[in-house]
Amino acid sequence: MQKNNIPYHVAIIMDGNGRWAENKNMPRSIGHEQGLKTLSKITQKVFEVGVKNLSVYAFSSENWKRPKNEITHLMALFEKALESNFQYMVDNKIKFNLLGNIKKFPSSLQKKIRNLEEITQKNKDFNFYLAANYGSKEELAFAADTLRNSSRKITESIFKNAFYAPNLPDVDLLIRTGGETRLSNFLLWQSAYAEIYFTKTLWPDFKTTHLNKALEFFSRKIRRFGKIY
Ligand code: IPE
Ligand code: IPE
Ligand code: MG
Repeated sequence: MQKNNIPYHVAIIMDGNGRWAENKNMPRSIGHEQGLKTLSKITQKVFEVGVKNLSVYAFSSENWKRPKNEITHLMALFEKALESNFQYMVDNKIKFNLLGNIKKFPSSLQKKIRNLEEITQKNKDFNFYLAANYGSKEELAFAADTLRNSSRKITESIFKNAFYAPNLPDVDLLIRTGGETRLSNFLLWQSAYAEIYFTKTLWPDFKTTHLNKALEFFSRKIRRFGKIY
């Protein structure tokens, strides 16, 4: 934890893009496009207030069950997002990391991800984690599989070191937009002690004022971590 009650790691489940568009009688793809605009604005604000680590849930391991045309559009949108935010990450010394299993993505997208990871890998000020084709259960199974031949006793820290991103800190504040009150397989281990903020606001409508409310919610929390003070 940092001073002034600013969370060190904020994680966001960006939900509600489809409903936002459907409410306006527009195709779901427009909702995802609008959601991307929200992501750019909110990312800037999150880092401006001093949060060092931001992880955002963009595509779950379960989202492959969606219609093919929605998936294809999302993949194209991810490529566009990487291109348009490339310079922002470089200029602001943000380290970009993909959280998830990259292998199922189109090869052009894989290349862009690896390129941005490589170019920003020495950046130290901020960390941006894009959770795409991410599933917490898959990550835990992956870690267990990686360590299966180890002769050492598996401690919490050894287990965590086998995760997709071993350096990802525990989540301090987890925000879920869109009204659902579930984790949908996002950072289950890392959120063991997260303060969880659910809001009905659909992700494309999420503004700085909403972010500030979530940060205020966090700053009011007494984090006991099992103690009694
Ligand atoms: C979240 O918005 C974005 C992704 C899962 C890709 P949804 O697409 O889930 O939007 P709703 O929940 O259907 O409104
Ligand atoms: C969670 O949203 C995943 C992302 C935001 C990427 P979903 O819309 O997929 O979650 P469920 O299906 O309602 O649990
Ligand atoms: Mg949803």
